[in-house]
Amino acid sequence: MSTQVKSRQRVSDHGEVFTSEREVNAMLDLVKQETERVDSRFLEPACGDGNFVAEILRRKLEAAKKRATPPRKKKPLPAEFERQSVIAVASIYGVDLLLDNVQACRERLYEIWNDSYSAICGKEVNEDCRAAVRFILSRNIVCGNALSMKEVDENGADTEAPIVFSEWSFIMGDKMQRKDFRFDKLLAGDYEATAKERKKRTRPEEELGQMSLLLEPQPSDEGELLASYIADYRRIQDHGE
Ligand SMILES: C[S@@+](CC[C@H](N)C(=O)[O-])C[C@H]1O[C@@H](n2cnc3c(N)ncnc32)[C@H](O)[C@@H]1O
Repeated sequence: MSTQVKSRQRVSDHGEVFTSEREVNAMLDLVKQETERVDSRFLEPACGDGNFVAEILRRKLEAAKKRATPPRKKKPLPAEFERQSVIAVASIYGVDLLLDNVQACRERLYEIWNDSYSAICGKEVNEDCRAAVRFILSRNIVCGNALSMKEVDENGADTEAPIVFSEWSFIMGDKMQRKDFRFDKLLAGDYEATAKERKKRTRPEEELGQMSLLLEPQPSDEGELLASYIADYRRIQDHGE
């Protein structure tokens, strides 16, 4: 995103002002180690067209290359890079109120992933894996209201459907598990667990500011598990919606 404002109307209706690359990098450098870990989880609750999550994915893909490169070798192993790069994508989450932003964000992340995937895996690229990554992005980048934690319709109005996030993890060889959790329940669990801690150091008016980039919203036993699916990671799109 080169321009920071699409229209004055969108700024006044939705506070839509995009963050410049320099600021994105400076902010991400505050949690540099996490951005360079393939499987660290990030949630951007007002992701726009993806300025933060795109840079996070770029950094994670660099880490995936390193992880997939055997000692004393220069190049990553394609099959290992494929798996690591899927983990990288699957650990990034975003929410935005506006459908065009959500679609642009998913497409942008897909292009970043696919450029690396194609460059490293060459003739070994797999169309099922590409479809799996598109599916993961369709679930991880949600058109919703991060305050009410509901999905929204094409006009940005709340629906009855709660936002649901999937936790993706490799469990055995090529088997991937998807576990679905309601966002509101996850956050409530996380909030309860850390409420005392936060009370000690945070004033209430600071809370919203802290929402701008949530690091590691941990799906945990405190969340309410809605559904669970297990499949080959390249066929994860065959199960559930
Ligand atoms: C200031 S922009 C930031 C976009 C992006 N994070 C960036 O830094 O470039 C705020 C974004 O939040 C979205 N937004 C506003 N209210 C929201 C809400 N309640 N839930 C989710 N997204 C919201 C807007 O559509 C807009 O894309």
